[in-house]
Amino acid sequence: MLIMHLAFMGLGIGLSCSNFVNARLCVGQTGDIAKGLGLQRRAIASIGNTVITAIWLSGFLLLQMRGWEGLNGWFHAKMAFAVLLTLGQIMAGRTGAEMMRSGKDALLLRLTLYLGAVLVSALAALALAVVAFN
Ligand code: HEM
Repeated sequence: MLIMHLAFMGLGIGLSCSNFVNARLCVGQTGDIAKGLGLQRRAIASIGNTVITAIWLSGFLLLQMRGWEGLNGWFHAKMAFAVLLTLGQIMAGRTGAEMMRSGKDALLLRLTLYLGAVLVSALAALALAVVAFN
């Protein structure tokens, strides 16, 4: 289960990095390039939603297996960042959907901020997990 948890975590960090780079590349782009980048972003976001769900599921299964006692402050800090990255992903998804609906490219900056928050929170959760369990 730990192997699965770590594999999902690695995938999640890769996907969030990919979408952050995509959003940065999209700045100033119009027409087919902007459309193509948007298509890729939506595909990555949808896989990302599944992967984040899998991180939560495997994390809770790990907790069930090891028992809930003796969790330290580092673990709780890690959980705070896990919540933050999940909220960032939800807000990025909503902003992306709004961009599609309204065609407002000005929302790209907000989208980039949410995607950056997802990436930074995931990296913080990784570091805190290592400190918590070693
Ligand atoms: C979302 C809720 C999560 C829960 C409930 C959870 C729970 C756990 C638990 C119980 C372990 C310890 C397994 C063991 O050795 O017995 C673990 C390990 C780990 N988790 Fe999570 N996790 C969650 C999310 C995340 C996230 C978002 C990341 C990073 C992006 C992450 C990264 C790691 C890493 C790197 C380890 C291995 C630490 C080590 O042994 O050095 N986890 N997690």
